Amino acid sequence: MILDGKGLAARRLELLKEDIIEEGLSPTLATVIVGDDPASHMYVRMKHRACEQVGISSVNISLPEDTTTRTILERIRQLNEDPDIDGILVQLPLPKTIDTEAVLAAILPEKDVDGFHPLNMGRLVTGLKGTRPCTPKGIMTLLHEYKIPIAGKRAVIVGRSVDVGRPISLLLLHADATVTICHSKTENLPEITKQADILVSAAGKPGIITAGMVKPGATVIDVGTNQVNGKLCGDVAFEEVERVAGAITPVPGGVGPMTIASLMENTTDIARNRCEPFI
Ligand code: GUN
Repeated sequence: MILDGKGLAARRLELLKEDIIEEGLSPTLATVIVGDDPASHMYVRMKHRACEQVGISSVNISLPEDTTTRTILERIRQLNEDPDIDGILVQLPLPKTIDTEAVLAAILPEKDVDGFHPLNMGRLVTGLKGTRPCTPKGIMTLLHEYKIPIAGKRAVIVGRSVDVGRPISLLLLHADATVTICHSKTENLPEITKQADILVSAAGKPGIITAGMVKPGATVIDVGTNQVNGKLCGDVAFEEVERVAGAITPVPGGVGPMTIASLMENTTDIARNRCEPFI
């Protein structure tokens, strides 16, 4: 079975659009992008396009590559104080000269649509209510909508990044999976991945997951967004793994659209909850 993230995301955006109208909400998202990486600019454009589609207003602040951390912090302070802005997203990665942790920590946790602020990360670890990172949230929605059982199942995550590997591990753990996190230093990777009922690859290495690494019938979630010869491809050798897996996400059209739908949901939730602090 192909897990159709593109179709599911489109349906969720339609529902969200109706909710925004019915509840009389007027959410506004601000994005900040630094430098001129074409892929990052494309992702930001896709986010703005989704905003337009569902009725979320959006503004983009595009800063040159040589912007200082101090200047970015000042722009974030202005967005924090602006009552017309509900959500703030700083597109990652930032140039190497920028103190990314300082930038993410400067965003008001109440406006942190990405869930990357340390307070929201702490809420995720403890299981408290708070904004969850968009890609992991989108994966959980996909699993839920396709009724993939999680409780008691063995989940293996390949990749330990702060934006995907770690938070998806925690969300699966909160959903009562038995979770193993693998990374670049893991020994005998195939031996571990072969035990997974749910295998999530967020390694950023094209073709790292081959058919021999997958348990027959497993659910395979491909978070890879690798550019190979100008073409977007995932971490999973799709054609061979598709024959072994019970369910699999394609790239493109799997996790990517779900990430954007989650961002729209997070922005709307923040706008909805403005009068009542999260916790
Ligand atoms: N760059 C790649 N993925 C993401 C994401 O989910 N959020 C932000 N802000 N930047 C990203």
